[in-house]
Order: sequence, then C-alpha cells, then structure tokens
Amino acid sequence: MSGLIKPHGGTLVNRVAQPDAVEALKKEAAGLKRIDLSAKQSCDVEMIGIGAFSPLHGFMGQADFDSVIANMTLASGEIWPIPITLSVAEGKAKEGDRVALYAPNGVLQAIMTVEEVYPHDRAKEATIFFNKPADDDGQHPGAEAVKKEGPVCLAGPIEVVTVCVDPQGPEAFLDERLTPAQTRAAFEAKGWKTVAAFQTRNPIHRAHEYLCKCAQEITDGLLIHPLVGETKPGDIPAETRMKCYKVLIDNYFNADRTLLSVMPAAMRYAGPREAILHSIVRKNYGVTHFIVGRDHAGVGSYYGTYDAQNIFDGLDKDNLGIEPLKFEHSAWCKTCEGMTSGKTCPHGGDHKIFLSGTKVRDLLAAGERPPMEFSRPEVADILIGWAKNAK
Ligand code: ADX
Repeated sequence: MSGLIKPHGGTLVNRVAQPDAVEALKKEAAGLKRIDLSAKQSCDVEMIGIGAFSPLHGFMGQADFDSVIANMTLASGEIWPIPITLSVAEGKAKEGDRVALYAPNGVLQAIMTVEEVYPHDRAKEATIFFNKPADDDGQHPGAEAVKKEGPVCLAGPIEVVTVCVDPQGPEAFLDERLTPAQTRAAFEAKGWKTVAAFQTRNPIHRAHEYLCKCAQEITDGLLIHPLVGETKPGDIPAETRMKCYKVLIDNYFNADRTLLSVMPAAMRYAGPREAILHSIVRKNYGVTHFIVGRDHAGVGSYYGTYDAQNIFDGLDKDNLGIEPLKFEHSAWCKTCEGMTSGKTCPHGGDHKIFLSGTKVRDLLAAGERPPMEFSRPEVADILIGWAKNAK
C-alpha cells in the first residue's frame, strides 16, 4: 500500500480502455450515434479517463448535478464544486444507448453508456459563477459558455479510446502529460511524501515563482502543474507557456525538487469553486498541499481577492484531504529589495512593482522586457517572441 495521499473518494479511477479492447470499441463506435464534443467536454473526457476527476467514472447525473450546485458535494457526499456535464441537443440519445464521443478534431475519443437523460438547467448552473444573482452581467466567460450549452444532459460511464486529442496534436506535451498514476509513481520514486502543486494558466512571473519557492521550503517537492486545456481567447497559449516554464525551471529551480507536468482540464473561471476543484484534482495526482494565491481562477472583478481562499474555511477538512496553502498578494518591494506580501513587508503600494496585464502586454508587444523584478528575462524573451507573432 502506497504511503501517498488517497485519491478523492478513495480509489483512483481509470476509464482508459485497455489496448486489447480498443479495436473492438472502434468497430462498435462505427455503428453508434455520434456526439460531437465541445473543447471543454473533450478536456473533461480526458480528465475522467485518466482518473484526475476521481471518483467520477463518467458525466454526472441529475442527483449529482443538483447536489453539486446546492451543497458543493456529490450525492455520495464527497466535496465537488462544479458540475461535469455532457450537454447535447434534444433527441441525441435515450437511456440505455451507447454513444460515440468525438473530439473537436474529429478523433473518436470515447464510448459512453447512457444511464440517464435529464434537462440541463443552464440558468441554475450559471449561478455557481456568482456570489449573488445581481453579479451576472452577461459577460462572465464561464457562465456565458454554460448558457450556450445544450438543453439536455447525458450521464453515464465512459470508456476512453483516445486519451490525448489536444488540438496541437496527439504528441502535445507528451513528455509532460503525466496521468495521476504517473505523477504518483514519480513522487514515490523521488521519495516525496509531501508535495505542493502550483496551478497556473499564465507564464510564471516573479510573484508566482515566489509562491512556488515558499511552498518548496515546507514540502519535499513541487509539482508545477499548468492547466493546458481550453482557455478563453486572450490567454497566452499553452505551447508558449510551456517554453516559459521550461526555461524558468532550467535556470531558477532546483531540478531535484521540481516536477513539471500538465493538467489537461478546461478553465472555467469560477474563482472560489474552481479553486476547490483544482485542489481535489491535485489530490488525485498525489499532491498534499495546494497553492491558492490572490483571486485564484478569477476573471474580471467577479470575486474578492481572497474569496477563493476563504471558501476552504467552510469545508470538511477530512473530506477535502489536501491542504490549501494560502498566499497573500505578493510583489517585489523596492525598499525591501525582494519579493514580499502584506504579511512580511511594512511598506505601502508605492514601494511595490505592480504591473497590470495590459501594461505587460504593451511592453511585450513593443519588444520590451518587463522589469526583472516582475519577470525573469529568459521568460520575457519568449513572451516577446510570442507577442510579435500574435500581433
Ligand atoms: S489561475 O487562473 O490559474 O489562478 P494565474 O495563473 O494567474 O491564474 O495564478 C496562478 C496562481 O498564482 C493562483 O493561485 C493565483 O491566486 C496566484 N497568484 C497570481 N498572482 C499572484 C500574486 N501577485 N500574488 C499572490 N498570488 C498570486
């Protein structure tokens, strides 16, 4: 029995078909009704298949959907903050059907046994993105995506035929596309008993690096675990970010204490609820501590700076299993000459190097590096190259 943290629900799920079953599933799929997955659904299929969404074996039924929205738990009681649904148009399938799920690139990704068909209450699901209904201004990327989804949900277990259908090709980040079973094996091989994970959808700048290194001081190892599934237009593409992570780790991290691997989930921008999802997923990857900084998984000004930290205070610690590592807003202080936060530094905002996302974009687009107190030069240079081509 491994000494690592238990997966959510106790058992690591594996819904990836065994190699000797794949041919038969492909043949069967040719005679089944076809469901074309959205990018988000396709990411979810990979996450379920590899056990990153344990204890889910497939897409959620209505009892889970309702319980997740109302109580942030599955019907069986495990903490779960965000519905994982396969929504489709009317009349696509009925209970008892087997259906073939195709990724946006046309590849057969999985076969699903439909155990339940139920109406998709999109308005209700959209409420999870807001602290109060009045905050819904029709602009939230996660909520708007849900509102546009299909009116019916199909629920049931899946068998995954093709694990990686990344639009960048089947080889996308293959060396760093470790499954939860593989990261667990890696942690055991390294002898890491405590592991902190860093979630990000951005290049790692100095504030991110500071969080990672503080976490490294108190754990055996660090998993840098960027989300590489669907993100909103305007976010920096995963391919560019991966180059940034690699150059940063090569130059500034202790290789013996750092592991880079990708998480193929889609971004929902659900702030506090997504911070919980991000943490239980990392528990499945074998991680014991999860970094939650300022406005984790936030977008615009829908969430308070520390909402995504405070939400953990109301959770049952045993059920959650993984420990959140909460960090205050961090920045370089010119007077302290180092990375600081309000917890460690007595100086005000005028001593700090804060750059808005827009300011950083403008600098990069002009071919200029942001100051080294904001971003490492090697990272800045990769981003300048990207910004030139993105213009
Ligand atoms: S996120 O959507 O993945 O949360 P991002 O990649 O920007 O976005 O952030 C990754 C992690 O770093 C999150 O936990 C976030 O809260 C934290 N973070 C980002 N910037 C700062 C900062 N300046 N100070 C403290 N935490 C930060």
